[in-house]
Amino acid sequence: MRLTRLVIASKNRHKIAEIMDVLHDTGLEIELVEDAQWPDVEETETTLVGNALLKAREVRAATGCAVVADDTGLEVEALGGEPGVFSARFAGPEATYEDNVEKLLRVMEGVTDRGAVFRTVMVLIDESGEELVVEGVMEGSITTEPRGSNGFGYDPVFLVGDRTFAEMATKEKNQISHRARALRALADELSERI
Ligand code: IMP
Repeated sequence: MRLTRLVIASKNRHKIAEIMDVLHDTGLEIELVEDAQWPDVEETETTLVGNALLKAREVRAATGCAVVADDTGLEVEALGGEPGVFSARFAGPEATYEDNVEKLLRVMEGVTDRGAVFRTVMVLIDESGEELVVEGVMEGSITTEPRGSNGFGYDPVFLVGDRTFAEMATKEKNQISHRARALRALADELSERI
């Protein structure tokens, strides 16, 4: 694989910060391109892999650079794996993080089996166009009310041990999160191939 300069295909500053933090810790010498521009990519696929590939390929086509893209879903056991790939739009097409969290807590009212996983699929396309797909999963459970103010998305209701992701410092979340696990899998693959 050829990889010296990399675009992170996301406009979510929390995600970008998490990805940069973990990549930095891997020790790989990759320069991040921070001023790249690309049109919004609509996530029209029905799987996490499909959407991650879609984003990575469109951003690579628009920038000509190596690119990493992720797609993440929250899979709740009692809901048969929903919201999954539809996590961002769980409460509707324009839903905010708060709307999604509120809907999740509402549909889970009275549900005792609260197990859930966060799943991240990460796609890297290198400078020659070679594609690499990895996955990271974190197991946890859904609280009955939001707790904590760090992080984003469903972090205030995703419980690991006795704290939610939103009650952890970013560094701490990044040690164990689905995204960190996917990135470390990516870094392991890369260190064998570069
Ligand atoms: P996407 O990968 O940006 O499409 O994210 C899908 C949905 O999952 C969005 O509602 C995000 O806010 C949420 N999400 C993604 N990653 C995380 C995370 O690390 N913690 C909490 N919510 C997340």
